[in-house]
Parts: sequence; structure tokens; C-alpha cells
Amino acid sequence: MNLKDQINLDRLPQHIAIIMDGNGRWAKQQGKQRTFGHQNGVNAVREASESAAELGVRYLTLYAFSTENWNRPKYEIDALMQLLVESIDKETPTLNKNNIRLNAIGDIKSLPEKSYNQLLKTIKETAGNDRMTLTLALSYSSRWEITETVKLISSKIENKELNIDDIDQQLISSYLNTSSMPDPELLIRTSGELRISNFLLWQIAYSELYFTPKLWPDFKKEDLYDAIIDYQNRERRFGKTSEQILKNTVE
Ligand code: FPP
Repeated sequence: MNLKDQINLDRLPQHIAIIMDGNGRWAKQQGKQRTFGHQNGVNAVREASESAAELGVRYLTLYAFSTENWNRPKYEIDALMQLLVESIDKETPTLNKNNIRLNAIGDIKSLPEKSYNQLLKTIKETAGNDRMTLTLALSYSSRWEITETVKLISSKIENKELNIDDIDQQLISSYLNTSSMPDPELLIRTSGELRISNFLLWQIAYSELYFTPKLWPDFKKEDLYDAIIDYQNRERRFGKTSEQILKNTVE
């Protein structure tokens, strides 16, 4: 049986989040500049998006540029931002053909004007698509997002639009950048690093974590299938006992 057929389509994660890592090391292995790795990383973005949509995954969220990435050399930031504009522009017809909606989370207003405008343009042009939502985390970090959320909720309290007693976990989730999505059931990180790097800290409270040594440009459809099969073989207990979970599935 091939890998894809081993996936139980009735138990697919609705939302998969990916920390795409290893572009720089991949380029170095080929004796090339880091930006060559990012260029090839775009192919892996396409491959992951296509395969997730084909399977029926509803939300795919990719960590494309972190708040901390602004500290990289200027030439690399410029190349990444240029690549973003070109790739999004080029892929817009394919997103529409595949009924995929583009979305973004993060401090996107801090992006260069050209990148910001292209992003908004494609978000608008794909807004009617409903097969899968592809979210790019851009100038994103979880601590930034949580700080913004605390500020927003505080200002609502100050303006008497909210009471302190209204604050619960659901309300906090509804003020995060990801308010329109379910929490990811599966978080994948490539390149062998065992870190979360400030990504979706609130949202991954109960996510299954999957780490692969593959460098991002080498991440293929089969690697996504492997991760989903691994996820489906795990028991998600949410703090309950194994016996309680088994009892609920047979009843
Ligand atoms: C991590 O590898 C990757 C990034 C910081 C950028 C990811 C960007 C892309 C895949 C291309 C553009 C994306 C889209 C959505 C069109 P790294 O540079 O940290 O690699 P290293 O850890 O080996 O140095």
C-alpha cells in the first residue's frame, strides 16, 4: 500500500502548521548562497499546499518570516521579501484554480510596501475560495501576537466595551490573529531543530508535534503523508486517561 493510501481521511487533522526550516543549510550543502535555499523553499511551499488541499486539510499555516528574522542581513531580508512578492503573484492563478484562500497573520503592516500590497491583492482575489485556507505567518511571533491581544482587550475594558469577568480562554482565542481558525492538531518542524521558536504558542497547547530532519527545500508530499500517518497513530488524550479515551470511541 502506498503512503497516501495509509492515511485515514476520516481522521485528518483539520489544521496543520509548519515551521519551515533549513533553507540556509540546504543552500550551503550545494555550495550556494542562502537565498538559493529560499528560492527552492518556494517549491516545497507549493508541494505542501497542493498535497494538503488534495487530501482535504482545511487549514495550512506556514511560518514564513518571524519577527526575529528582521535581524538577518539586509540582502537576505530584501531577497525574501522580493521572493514573497514574486511567488504570491505567480501562484495566484493556481490558488484560484485549486480553490485555496490566502490569508496572513503577523505584523504585516511592517512589511515593505510592495510585499504588503501584493499580499493584500492576492488575499482579496482568493477570498471567495473555500477548499483550504493557506495562512502565511509574516513578521509574526507568538509573543508579539499575545502582547497585541492583551493591549486590545485592555483597551476594550478601558472603554467599558468588555468587563474583566468576560475574559476566558475562548475570548482570548477570539482576539488572536488566528481567531477564524481552529487550533492546529499537528505542528511540523523541518531541519531537525527541536524548538517552537515563538510560533503559535497559545494555539499549540494540545497540538501533536512532529520533527523531521529533512531540510525544508527537500520536504515532499510523502513527507507530509509521513507526518499525518504518525499523527494518526498517536493517542490524543487532552489530559484524560487512555481508558477514558477508548471508552468514548467504542460508545
Ligand atoms: C527558514 O530557513 C526559512 C525561512 C526563514 C524563510 C521561509 C521562506 C520561504 C520558504 C520562501 C518564501 C515563502 C513563501 C510563502 C512564498 P533558514 O533560512 O532559517 O535555514 P537555516 O536554519 O538552515 O539557516
